[in-house]
Amino acid sequence: MFHTKNLFLRRPRHRIIAAIILSLLVIGCVITVDALLNDDPAVKITTDAPATHSLLVPPLLEPSIEDGIAHYQLDLGRSSHDFDQAQLTPTIAYNQESLLGPTLHLYQGDQVVIDVTNHLDEDTTTHWHGADVPAEADGGPHSVIRPDETWKAEFNVIQEAATLWYHPHLKDHTAEQVYRGAAGLMIIDDDNPTSSQLPSTYGIDDIPIILQDRDFTKDGELDFTLSNKGKGFFYPYLTVNGTLDPYINVPAGLVRLRLLNGSQARLYKLSVDSGRMIMIASEGGYLNQPIAMEQIMISPGDRAEIIVDLSNVDRLNLLDVSFGRVLELRADRALTAVADPLPSTLNTIEKIDPNEVDHSREFVFEKVGKGWGINGQQMKLARTDDVIQFGDTERWTLRSVSGSHVFHVHQTQFQVLERNGHPPEPYEQGWEDSIFFKGKDTVVILARFNTYINPDIPYMLHCHILDHEDTGMMSQFKIVNHPERIEGST
Ligand code: C2O
Ligand code: CU
Ligand code: CU
Repeated sequence: MFHTKNLFLRRPRHRIIAAIILSLLVIGCVITVDALLNDDPAVKITTDAPATHSLLVPPLLEPSIEDGIAHYQLDLGRSSHDFDQAQLTPTIAYNQESLLGPTLHLYQGDQVVIDVTNHLDEDTTTHWHGADVPAEADGGPHSVIRPDETWKAEFNVIQEAATLWYHPHLKDHTAEQVYRGAAGLMIIDDDNPTSSQLPSTYGIDDIPIILQDRDFTKDGELDFTLSNKGKGFFYPYLTVNGTLDPYINVPAGLVRLRLLNGSQARLYKLSVDSGRMIMIASEGGYLNQPIAMEQIMISPGDRAEIIVDLSNVDRLNLLDVSFGRVLELRADRALTAVADPLPSTLNTIEKIDPNEVDHSREFVFEKVGKGWGINGQQMKLARTDDVIQFGDTERWTLRSVSGSHVFHVHQTQFQVLERNGHPPEPYEQGWEDSIFFKGKDTVVILARFNTYINPDIPYMLHCHILDHEDTGMMSQFKIVNHPERIEGST
């Protein structure tokens, strides 16, 4: 047999055939490795047994008011968290939490100062994801906080009630710092009268749900992997606010869940196993009307607020297609519930008129070099990719040449004009700062840039699959003065 093979290879044509077969085998191998990487290792939890851990709820941080200014302090440092491993898992967290950070409570109209102190021995930044703030206060990769330094973010809360979040945004290291535990929610409140008719007692009937997948080494340390391939890296264990297999006691009525996908690359497809699931808010605020949903898809960086109903059930499970049970909600009749029904109108979103567009751009997401890029380029701190005139309304076409992506833009909340030539589904008709699109999708969005100017510091736009972001899929834009428009005049 061996001899025959050798004979076969001795002839040039046969050598070529052998080379082709060999390279096919190698390609086969690469495909297998890639498929393995994208293969979902999720450890599924069934609903047969009750959930095992009480859900951790990050504390709510109210501002301290000094001279009319709402002041918040964040301290990022080393910590450790009980993930049910043989020993405590080293993490990083804000304000001495074991993981994550407090939920910042902001109020529309407030003048805000947030001091962020870095107690780590590495650089970091803190970005307010979804917030409409000046570039110098945005916390992007240019606002590096060195060890033992404090960075001051000053801005006014000019946007409506919404669920935003904060996380480090250090160039090439966002995925790792978020994964190790540095992230938190921001809740903006306003005096929208419907707010008072919705469940809004934090931690009781208004629950933050931060979804993150993780993996552990056998010593109980966090096992981090950054992948420049495919969809990014998926981990096998789901943590909800850092809790594995959680439950929470809630009133026997309407309960609001503020969902945040704080994962590196995973999408979640969520549903409930009894009663209704009603979406009330997208990323930048309330939808116009509540929308009943069978399933809600939430991509990395994305938020959604939903209402679930425990009026007629003792328990209800929030489920994900990959992980099975995400959270078990147990009705506790001793807690007071918000009376049904939900308000039928939640918001009045002014539609951005396509006729007001001043400028159009296209952003093409693709493989570039050893990682990913936008419009053929990998992220470079020293290069400004786009310059926008203050006051302009822009129409952006987003498409992908390779892979699926989550487009995210800083500073502005946009509206989806169309997806693949069709108007967006009702649940995509609200304010958004991130949007998922598959390989063949084309998404067109409209955005206004009428709040801040900074000719020096750029804002980011990028893919929120953090493996993609950290391997180059990010670009920068500045908002500059328009000769006929003055900042703050709109
Ligand atoms: Cu959630 Cu540029 O970030
Ligand atoms: Cu952001
Ligand atoms: Cu991407």
